[in-house]
Amino acid sequence: MKIIIKNNTINMKGIILAGGSGTRLFPLTIAVSKQLLPVYDKPMIYYPLSVLMLAEIKDILIISTPRDLPSFKNLFGDGSQLGIKISYKVQPNPDGLAQAFVIGEEFIGNDDVCLILGDNIFYGSEFKNLLDEAIADVKVNQNAIIFGNIVTDPQRYGIVEIDEDQNVLSVEEKPQKPRSNYAIVGLYFYPNSVIKIAKNVKPSERGEAEITSINDEYLNINKLKLKILSRGFAWLDTGTHEALAEATEFVKVVEKRSSLKIACLEEIALNYNWISKKELSAQIKNLKGDYYDYLKKII
Ligand code: G1P
Repeated sequence: MKIIIKNNTINMKGIILAGGSGTRLFPLTIAVSKQLLPVYDKPMIYYPLSVLMLAEIKDILIISTPRDLPSFKNLFGDGSQLGIKISYKVQPNPDGLAQAFVIGEEFIGNDDVCLILGDNIFYGSEFKNLLDEAIADVKVNQNAIIFGNIVTDPQRYGIVEIDEDQNVLSVEEKPQKPRSNYAIVGLYFYPNSVIKIAKNVKPSERGEAEITSINDEYLNINKLKLKILSRGFAWLDTGTHEALAEATEFVKVVEKRSSLKIACLEEIALNYNWISKKELSAQIKNLKGDYYDYLKKII
């Protein structure tokens, strides 16, 4: 999405962080990136990439480990087949989510930026409106935007405490005594100032530069805004074997009953006219299986 402010075009860039060692999913992830594991009919990273594409963010950086980055390049190349631009950068060590903005400094340039975690899956019908509102709020008010979703196990997440008007009162990373049940999901929109803030984040007790520390900085200057993911919206976790299997089951059931695919990247590119039907036909002509049969039907 482009918003023109005083003749200067500020774009929203997108970063997918697909690092980490995925130890909670061992032995699945001993040799394979967590974000490349299948979630029903496509690799996990398709889901967060589809969110950025839905938000009309076309300039995207994938950050991953030295071992896994080549696999992501094999999967997506330069992104031109989807009508987008994908670049790649290594995170040498799993030193925390906040590092994404330091690693991505050059890529972000003078633009604003959306960070999405490579293992977060979102599904809901009003999502596009929510994303557009978030982008506009960053541009116009220089606010940082986070999203909250009720969970039953708040000790596992970044947690946001709110008042009755949904103003943010506090944010805390994996608190032992959570002040609310609202988890902060892995999708964040920031103005360009996030680069500077990220550079000054000190490592937490677990030795990581936490995204929650960045959010806390925006809260201190009264610039942190929360949007609640409401009833009917699904935010799926893929952090355990059980959760991964449930995500697969969820996608399978929804796709089957609706006859529509979730996170079908080529379909999104086609809907936005980033690629033509003719180009897509040529790309998938010799490809087989459900995913490509679906695309052939659309064409
Ligand atoms: C990270 C963040 C946490 C957030 C979660 C969402 O946790 O640190 O604040 O709630 O992602 O998936 P991690 O998955 O790295 O433990």
